Amino acid sequence: KVLVIDFGSQVTQLIARRLRESGVYCEVHPFNRVDDAFLDAYAPQAIILSGGPNSVHGEGTPRATQSVFERGLPVLGICYGEQTMCAQLGGSVEAAEEREFGRADIEIVADSPLFEGLGAVGHLERVWMSHGDRVNAIPQGFHPIAASENAPFAAIADEGRRFYGVQFHPEVVNTPRGALILRNFTHNIAGMKGDWTMAAFKEEAIAKIREQVGSGRVICGLSGGVDSSVAAVLIHEAIGDQLTCVFVDTGLMRTGEADQVVSLFREHYNIPLVAADEEERFLSALAGESDPEKKRKTIGKLFIDVFEDKAKGVGGADFLAQGTLYPDVIESVSFDGGPSVTIKSHHNVGGLPERMNMKLVEPLRELFKDEVRALGRELGLPESFIGRHPFPGPGLAIRIPGEVTKDKADILRKADAIYIEEIRKAGLYDSIWQAFAVLLPVQTVGVMGDARTYDNVLALRAVNSTDGMTADYFPFDHDFLGRVATRIINEVRGVNRVVYDVTSKPPGTIEWE
Ligand code: XMP
Repeated sequence: KVLVIDFGSQVTQLIARRLRESGVYCEVHPFNRVDDAFLDAYAPQAIILSGGPNSVHGEGTPRATQSVFERGLPVLGICYGEQTMCAQLGGSVEAAEEREFGRADIEIVADSPLFEGLGAVGHLERVWMSHGDRVNAIPQGFHPIAASENAPFAAIADEGRRFYGVQFHPEVVNTPRGALILRNFTHNIAGMKGDWTMAAFKEEAIAKIREQVGSGRVICGLSGGVDSSVAAVLIHEAIGDQLTCVFVDTGLMRTGEADQVVSLFREHYNIPLVAADEEERFLSALAGESDPEKKRKTIGKLFIDVFEDKAKGVGGADFLAQGTLYPDVIESVSFDGGPSVTIKSHHNVGGLPERMNMKLVEPLRELFKDEVRALGRELGLPESFIGRHPFPGPGLAIRIPGEVTKDKADILRKADAIYIEEIRKAGLYDSIWQAFAVLLPVQTVGVMGDARTYDNVLALRAVNSTDGMTADYFPFDHDFLGRVATRIINEVRGVNRVVYDVTSKPPGTIEWE
């Protein structure tokens, strides 16, 4: 397996993705967590140093622990990773006058196994650059293998020690043959076979869960979404009845959600499940609150209260399991502490309190959504569950801007069900990342039959995305939108106008709050 040392680049996660696509398992860990002991325990076969926002010659900027270069392992430095490698091995880096952002062509200037399959010396290769600094003297033992107009050391190699540095980003799609370059590093240079599979991940994850949990008890919150379901089934395979699942019906779930979850877990899997009907408790806590952040925090805190209550009911729990995914974890690396547990879990149920009595078990932290789905298939989850659109922890509360009430939740549930039903009928459900309705706190005048109406506006949202970090609105045809609008207005009391949201992310977000 490969170790990716993260220096905080926005695109570090894509390195992991590209490697796994070529059958190589890897994990990303922040630079300040990787020391000698970590390296001994993780035992990587190759190391990749990511890019990052810092400047190598700035005061106290991050470095890789020196022993990264002393273990006889192949090392590939990308962008900041190349620069810190040079700085740490005796080369030097300067602030370049000409900064390079975006598309660039590099010229291959020496043969190297890193560029096998790209072209011979003199070949020009399209890459994606993003850097202000550049290497101006390379360490002893290195020689340039590619150059660009502004970066004479666009790629360097010390073939003897198997150290490589590239100034560009091979992990992004804008470097069309970047995946091949990474594959050359892992397969040709590090000699890896590329035989990693989801089945292997599953076995490793099970072993890790057993090690972490020991004989402790785990409680797992199910949301009805894929992530928490996959986490629960995986943990159940690992520790059996030490796991109790809790499904909290917050009153903010979609139509039929509670029944589907309960029957999947109790009947299909025979996993102990506590179903808690907490509608009253959630809605009364939310009464009068219209600030989005406060709504999220209120819900997050209540979730933990309920989990802790339910844990008592089953004799106490030492761990809380969550389906936190990689994009939740990686949002940012802070240079004082690295990504902290609270920040990640915060995102997961929409605001976990700072203090809680249970430790977290998050077996999906290294995976992307599509990988979670693949793992779900490996675990035998029904396709109907695996293909479900993501649903946020705070539920419909963040799709009802302003104050949340039961009436509003009921209206939204009905409208959302019609929208999703029409999407399924049109055969579009699986082509959309996520679709849902939003009930706006805005009333407008309408006319139905001969009567005046004064009811709420409903917004429809549908987006495509690969990981939820960026998204484009889905281009429905107008007939489809018209059909959905007509049905909703005819069938749902309380809505007299339907609009379609055509905002991408960024600048919008997927959810409205
Ligand atoms: P945004 O709205 O941030 O959403 O563009 C990105 C993805 O994350 C989901 N989401 C959440 N999921 N807890 C979750 O489990 C949350 O608090 C939360 N907020 C947003 C959202 O549905 C989308 O898929």
